[in-house]
Amino acid sequence: MRLLSGIQPSGELHVGNYFGALAPQLELQHQHQAFYFIADYHSMTSVRDPRERRALTRGVALDYLACGLDPQCAILYRQSDFPEVTELAWMLSTVTPMGLLERAVSYKDKVAQGLAPDHGLFAYPVLQAADILVVNPDAVPVGQDQKQHIEMTRDIAQRFNHTYGEIFKLPEPLIREEVAVVPGTDGRKMSKSYGNVIPMFAPKGRMKKAIMGIVTDSTPVEEPKKWDTPLFQLWSLFATPIERDELRGRAEAGGLGYGEVKKDLLARVLDHFQPLRSRREDWERRPDDVEDVLASGVRRAREIGGPVLEQARRAAGLGPG
Ligand code: TRP
Repeated sequence: MRLLSGIQPSGELHVGNYFGALAPQLELQHQHQAFYFIADYHSMTSVRDPRERRALTRGVALDYLACGLDPQCAILYRQSDFPEVTELAWMLSTVTPMGLLERAVSYKDKVAQGLAPDHGLFAYPVLQAADILVVNPDAVPVGQDQKQHIEMTRDIAQRFNHTYGEIFKLPEPLIREEVAVVPGTDGRKMSKSYGNVIPMFAPKGRMKKAIMGIVTDSTPVEEPKKWDTPLFQLWSLFATPIERDELRGRAEAGGLGYGEVKKDLLARVLDHFQPLRSRREDWERRPDDVEDVLASGVRRAREIGGPVLEQARRAAGLGPG
């Protein structure tokens, strides 16, 4: 199968991005042909500072490599190095009904959070459809929050095919239900815009502050604890099923303090990310090597995307024919 997915460089990546996007994407890189990219054009809808964008873009490249992206195997690139994407985005926009975009939940959410309701933000799903369709993937591994965007991609592909002939495959969303939603420290979905994240690679002090800040109720230590709460949900991400059953037993028996669980969670998080952190530092010292990975990635992506775009252009009657 051919897979494609992307991450927007709009903030420091966190545990929710790791379990929801990075880890599942990278688990698939050896069995399938994987295209993973850094959506820096998409970040223009929220980040307006060019230096910040460049730093965040580099950060996401490092995060992918830190988490084990194997450049011999997966294809990693920067969206803005792949001009076929924006060209296709225009073509797709001409078959995208306004009503489809008006129903996009993420647009409404982002405007409600205070982002400027400009054309780029409104047309975000069209650019995403172009990211995907330009390499004609079979499936798109994403978190639950992207499901609607993939449905819109399928809808747009279908309309283009209906108008100009069968050019695009309809890609399937690949969503891992068990980690579909990682709770943040306040119990809502973990998200940068809620300020409730546990970062992946922040210095220890900030990791500690985030974890100690996980909301808990005021049940006294001796009393039984409710298991289905953010602290235990987060802890469970870093534990084996046996450890989970054991802690659950202790929580429900009473006598387990939240402080102890938080301390243990901090140790587990630091432990889990330590090897990744070292690998990230190693790549960080070799920025030219990171650029080489991205350059060879985009070369391979364009080898696939160029002909797809050419087919779409020809079908639509663009160019000399
Ligand atoms: N919208 C995605 C997000 O915010 C990022 C993204 C952009 C993407 N283009 C994509 C994801 C194409 C999958 C496929 O997470």
